[in-house]
Amino acid sequence: MQTAELPATPQGLIAASTVLAQGGLVAFPTETVYGLGADARNSRAVAAIFAAKGRPSFNPLIVHVASVEAAKSLVVWSPTADLLAQAFWPGPLTLVLPLNAASGLSPLVTANLPSLAIRVPANPLARELLLGFGGPVAAPSANLSGKISPTSMRHVLRGLQDQIEAVIDGGDCAVGLESTIVGLEHSPTLLRPGGLASDQIERCLGHALTRHQDGDPLTAPGQMTSHYAPKAPMRLNVNRPDPGETLLGFGAVQADLNLSPDSDLVEAAANLFKHLHMLDHSNATSIAVSPIPDTGLGLAINDRLKRAAAPRPD
Ligand code: TXA
Ligand code: MG
Repeated sequence: MQTAELPATPQGLIAASTVLAQGGLVAFPTETVYGLGADARNSRAVAAIFAAKGRPSFNPLIVHVASVEAAKSLVVWSPTADLLAQAFWPGPLTLVLPLNAASGLSPLVTANLPSLAIRVPANPLARELLLGFGGPVAAPSANLSGKISPTSMRHVLRGLQDQIEAVIDGGDCAVGLESTIVGLEHSPTLLRPGGLASDQIERCLGHALTRHQDGDPLTAPGQMTSHYAPKAPMRLNVNRPDPGETLLGFGAVQADLNLSPDSDLVEAAANLFKHLHMLDHSNATSIAVSPIPDTGLGLAINDRLKRAAAPRPD
């Protein structure tokens, strides 16, 4: 595909929101860094983000919305969230809050976590795009996995040229550093330092933020295992399921559920968490999973499946 370079005009923004509505990917400027946006309710579109970035795993993504009101409909809001949102939104602050079960978001956005990272960006083009599109936009930084976050359209194109449908040319990002992430599920916790100074947040709260000593808790291996595990035991790389096993298939196989009959890894990624949920709510007593190639998104799918199949702690 050829990446359309869209101007920062009303026409450019309409073209961008049309791409989002059709399930495509648009890189757009925010005040922090450029984000790689997709409709957060569309699993295939969200899976395409991971494919374009070449992410080795499904990290949870930040959802971008146009207003505090829109944020409230996706999470379980709280007085502390209100205090920080009133003080710092729109702006370079991301809040992690309990996910509203009726949010309608793709489970790929949260990597199946019960929490959601959300922010209202301040960049006028980002705001107009979100208003025009009228829905939640999942967006990690618009760089290849492991590379530096982009702060101009040129940076975006260096990594993602012809991998995404469009990029909006919004010039250089004002802040140039990713948003500060504050977790509000328990006591307010600094999850990632960023574009909003933490002492400003602490002054607003009237107390210090809790800090994590051991780095990002989400990247600690095994930490999220239980979020992926269905209750029934799972066997991976199974070509012939045993009698009584429920087969989660991939490719042209006779299966109870199939991640992608066409062997399409983007489709399989889009279906993964949904199908694990369905298996968990079925009467399957043991689950077999077809082999999935260890290339592209298959690496991330297999990583999650391995965690789901790992021995349970209890
Ligand atoms: O400034 C920014 O935040 C940019 C722009 C585009 O908004 N976005 C960005 O996204 O930096 P990304 O994917 O590169 O980083 C998102 C971070 C990851 O470290 C991820 O682990 C964390 O947010 N995160 C997402 N959801 C989370 C959750 N439910 N709980 C804890 N951390 C979460
Ligand atoms: Mg990033």
